[in-house]
Amino acid sequence: MAKTKKPDPRPVEPAGSLDEVRAAAQDCRRCDLWARATQTVFGAGAAHHAVMFVGEQPGDVEDRAGEPFVGPAGTLLREALTEAGFDRSDVYLTNAVKHFKWTPRGKKRLHEKPNRGEVLACRFWLEQEIAHIEPRAIVALGATAAQTVLGPSVRVLRDRGTPIASPLAPLVTLTVHPSSILRAPDAESRHAARRQFVADLRKIRKQL
Ligand code: URA
Repeated sequence: MAKTKKPDPRPVEPAGSLDEVRAAAQDCRRCDLWARATQTVFGAGAAHHAVMFVGEQPGDVEDRAGEPFVGPAGTLLREALTEAGFDRSDVYLTNAVKHFKWTPRGKKRLHEKPNRGEVLACRFWLEQEIAHIEPRAIVALGATAAQTVLGPSVRVLRDRGTPIASPLAPLVTLTVHPSSILRAPDAESRHAARRQFVADLRKIRKQL
């Protein structure tokens, strides 16, 4: 297990090429999550100067597929991005943690939130993605990603859609995680949460 240390918000130097970093991440042992995951799920999408969306960690579907945001939350995100006017060829999708953390419930694998040590251990890979891609904007989705990118003082509901000064990219901001919309208790609140999410994404796009 890697030592828990405070994240340094400054950009790091890129090591090798992004493809080399992605290949090295496949053998990551920086924390123990690799042992129960199918594979490392590295970021994917447009490379240079993309708009980078950072989620929490791959889910069950992503763990099997080896690609970020291809399960139910990912489908919602991809549809919302299109509705908000993002060009998918200009977007890079990744996660704060690159292995699926889960707990068994019958035959299901239930998502378990990564702890601080796991997030900090995995930050190395996110820093490398940022160093290589030099994103025009970084959008953190939900609290785990927001705190990984922006530190502990951000609050998702208070700060959603607001630009936050950071040396990591010209625009750094946040909104809710799409899976929070899927967890809304009924159809009406789910629709309202989805509308607000698309409105945040539109507001972010206009700031680019
Ligand atoms: N949730 C995330 O945070 N990331 C994914 O890739 C899928 C679901």
